[in-house]
Amino acid sequence: MRLLVCGGAGFIGSNFVRLRLLQHGDEITVLDKLTYAGREENFHDLVDHPGFRFIRGAIEDPDAVAEAIAAAAPEAIVNFAAETHVDRSIAEPDAFVTTHALGTYVLLEAARQHQLRYLQVSTDEVYGSIEQGTFTEDSPLRPSSPYSATKTGADLLVLSYFHTYDLPAVICRGSNNYGPYQYPEKLIPLMVLNALHGDRLPVYGDGQQVRNWIHVLDFARAIAHVLQHGVPGEVYNAGGPDECVNLDVVTRILELTGADASLIEHVTDRPGHDRRYSLSSQKVRALGWEPQVRFQEGLDETVAWYRENAWWWQPIRSGDYREYYQRQYGLGLAES
Ligand code: NAD
Ligand code: DAU
Repeated sequence: MRLLVCGGAGFIGSNFVRLRLLQHGDEITVLDKLTYAGREENFHDLVDHPGFRFIRGAIEDPDAVAEAIAAAAPEAIVNFAAETHVDRSIAEPDAFVTTHALGTYVLLEAARQHQLRYLQVSTDEVYGSIEQGTFTEDSPLRPSSPYSATKTGADLLVLSYFHTYDLPAVICRGSNNYGPYQYPEKLIPLMVLNALHGDRLPVYGDGQQVRNWIHVLDFARAIAHVLQHGVPGEVYNAGGPDECVNLDVVTRILELTGADASLIEHVTDRPGHDRRYSLSSQKVRALGWEPQVRFQEGLDETVAWYRENAWWWQPIRSGDYREYYQRQYGLGLAES
């Protein structure tokens, strides 16, 4: 397929692009603003591929979107572009509103004008927290943070374009992703890099929150599957095969890195912190997708990847990330 992949320089987007370009022969144009989280290093190995093109631009900029569509002549738009860190949405919600509301609107208008298929990458956080059981696609939408509330707004706008204009749009909602190329503000890479440097491991509250982990390549495969087989106007959840308590994730990272448990520090909890996420993926499984990577195996591989790819994270840890970390945690980081 010829795809316009928005947000393809980020963690999940770049893994999706690599998979589709190298293993499925898709022709891919990436449109990405390159925020702090979007990095050309994430597709360093793809830039010379004849099926790959990169355009720097924001999805809320109609001219940039028009330029990308003219260059790509895509059959579909896949939208990963987002501000994605819950803590940053609590501190500074502004960009979340712009990118998720205005950006999604601009893309939908372009898809409508050019009669393109459209896939919105979304999140289990739109359902809020669940103490027991699992969320299905019919569960009520109860987002807790500015991140999840603006992602929910984007989802509703996408569905409105299907109902109002017959736009062939689908939504794929994922659970917590992990794997290579994830910016180290997120739990797993943050803890791995801190453990490797002997920095403190800041666990929010009691650390008993539960997340439903999915390997990034499993989520990338689910997105491709929904794009190809999903019914327009439908939502598909894609959750990982395993749930894990945060403190158990951190303990396993300590084992894998050989760091000492005394590095764990319980810090002030995140405001409005969702206790547990859990997704039922029956609907996308019925289309023929299933996750292939169990969490324990995937986590081991992920820790090894960060260990072996200092070239990727060293510039992050020595740049603006240090200031962000100091602001967010009131703690410094060791030199890399
Ligand atoms: P990320 O932060 O690593 O990447 C986001 C990308 O979007 C970056 O390349 C960034 O430069 C780009 N971007 C941000 N604002 C933009 C704008 N206005 N215009 C163009 N590009 C812009 O995020 P990720 O973890 O790869 O998440 C990708 C998508 O998947 C998001 O929509 C997110 O909500 C969703 N999602 C993430 C997870 C997860 O666990 N990380 C789980 C489920 C769903
Ligand atoms: O569930 C899908 C969502 O997963 C995505 O939509 C988001 O984009 C993505 O960021 C992620 O959200 P979370 O808030 O669950 O991920 P995060 O890595 O920030 O936190 C995971 C858990 O770890 C959560 O319970 C908070 C906790 N945590 C996180 C950090 C960064 C800590 O205890 N300490 C930390 O320093």
